[in-house]
Amino acid sequence: MRNIPKILAGASAAVALIVGLALSPTVYAGAGAKGEMPSKKACAAAMKDGSDKVTMGGCIATDRKGGNCHACHFFKGLETTRLQAGNIAPPFVQIGSRYSKEQLKERLYDPTKLNPNTSMPPYGKHKILSGKEIDLVIDWLVTL
Ligand code: HEC
Repeated sequence: MRNIPKILAGASAAVALIVGLALSPTVYAGAGAKGEMPSKKACAAAMKDGSDKVTMGGCIATDRKGGNCHACHFFKGLETTRLQAGNIAPPFVQIGSRYSKEQLKERLYDPTKLNPNTSMPPYGKHKILSGKEIDLVIDWLVTL
């Protein structure tokens, strides 16, 4: 009888594990839902495949050696990852309905044109990202 709590604890841990396994595909699916954060694995696959522009853009945006956008911006999906979001810039919310791709391109190329005192890096002007990479980041950005 004394072992029952132990067994129950074991059973609930097993349930938690099974539930966790059942949920993990939604977290790691990458491309899947709108604006979802791609995992490293999904990124490697997407970059190799080259056809899923939204996922590729999300991967570039969250690459510390690429966009590193989460250093300053929060966006949906980040909470399911280990990435920590900064809060020195507005969160990405309804970006696609507030800006055209052209406007986003202008901002990413050189945000100092819109705000000379901004802390946001001029990704295009300083060649932090290539033109193609900026386009991919925008394909992802407008889904947020
Ligand atoms: C070092 C901090 C920093 C980084 C990194 C950064 N930004 Fe920003 N961003 C800002 C700040 C600050 C603003 C607020 C407006 C301003 O200062 O021009 C902003 C504004 C924006 C806006 C307008 C948001 C709105 O709600 O109006 C967009 C879109 C944007 N950034 C995209 C990006 C993308 C995409 C990346 C990554 C490729 C990125 N930013 C990386 C600091 C940053």
